[in-house]
Amino acid sequence: MDTPPPRRIAFIGGGNMASALIGGLLRAGRDPAVITVVEPSEAQRDKLAQAFCIQAQPDADARLADAATVVWAVKPQLFAEAAAPCVPFVGAALQVSVMAGVRCAAVARASGSARVVRAMPNMPALIGQGIAGLFATAEVEDAARTEVDALFAPTGASLWLPCEADLDAVTALSGSGPAYVYYFLEAMMQAAVEMGLTEAQGRLLAQHTFAGATALAQQSPLPPHELRAQVTSRGGTTFAAISSLDDSGVKAAFVKALHAARQRAAELGRA
Ligand SMILES: NC(=O)c1ccc[n+]([C@@H]2O[C@H](COP(=O)([O-])OP(=O)(O)OC[C@H]3O[C@@H](n4cnc5c(N)ncnc54)[C@H](OP(=O)(O)O)[C@@H]3O)[C@@H](O)[C@H]2O)c1
Repeated sequence: MDTPPPRRIAFIGGGNMASALIGGLLRAGRDPAVITVVEPSEAQRDKLAQAFCIQAQPDADARLADAATVVWAVKPQLFAEAAAPCVPFVGAALQVSVMAGVRCAAVARASGSARVVRAMPNMPALIGQGIAGLFATAEVEDAARTEVDALFAPTGASLWLPCEADLDAVTALSGSGPAYVYYFLEAMMQAAVEMGLTEAQGRLLAQHTFAGATALAQQSPLPPHELRAQVTSRGGTTFAAISSLDDSGVKAAFVKALHAARQRAAELGRA
């Protein structure tokens, strides 16, 4: 029996997120020859060639029609412009979009394919430690979901969601989430300097504290509030800090901030 030809995958846009996915596929053993990239920037095409030995093409053409999967990885505001020249070639493929805020219906309309998976990855995908929320339209078959799992697995963890609207919450939690962590790191570093440490010392202490505390939470069966209780003895230093945070309403303000992010994600999806 003849072996079927390898499934080809095309990326529209060859920037940061596409590079994270392509790098992951290659590390997982995918043949670079099955990957097509449409990328108008010559500098970016050179980067792809150097990093991955992939010859990206500046424009869409009939070679795209061989792709079983098309990954949309352009900025959301450039989607319509990027899609127009691809439309004649991509209608039979599974469409995977990593574009923030672009609804499945919009991808289906622009591509001519109802088989759409929408993903919300996050920035640590660039180092294989991201988490992606995934949603598939009803037309996406199980084999295609498996293909999508293989696409995102090298970039970190992933989570399938039953409703597309859940992706707005994912955007608020993990999509925007790295910025919240950096915000807290900034605050810890500012306090470090105010208390006489150097910025570098503050950064080292703050980063290791985040990494270590998160790793411990991942390994522990205890919920975060119990882990916190373990380092908070009444009248002690941590107690003083948490009491100060509570007096300033920091937790409530943080929860409100995530609601604002989800609201904005929903608005952008409607735009
Ligand atoms: N990076 C993240 O952490 C992250 C997280 C979640 C979701 N996303 C989503 O991922 C998508 C890509 O983000 P990114 O950070 O990878 O952006 P990026 O680095 O700017 O990559 C987008 C690439 O698309 C290219 N492009 C522009 N117009 C094009 C066209 N007509 N046809 C084909 N390619 C075109 C751009 O080239 P030029 O530079 O010449 O414009 C650029 O190289 C966005 O929709 C974003 O919402 C990213």
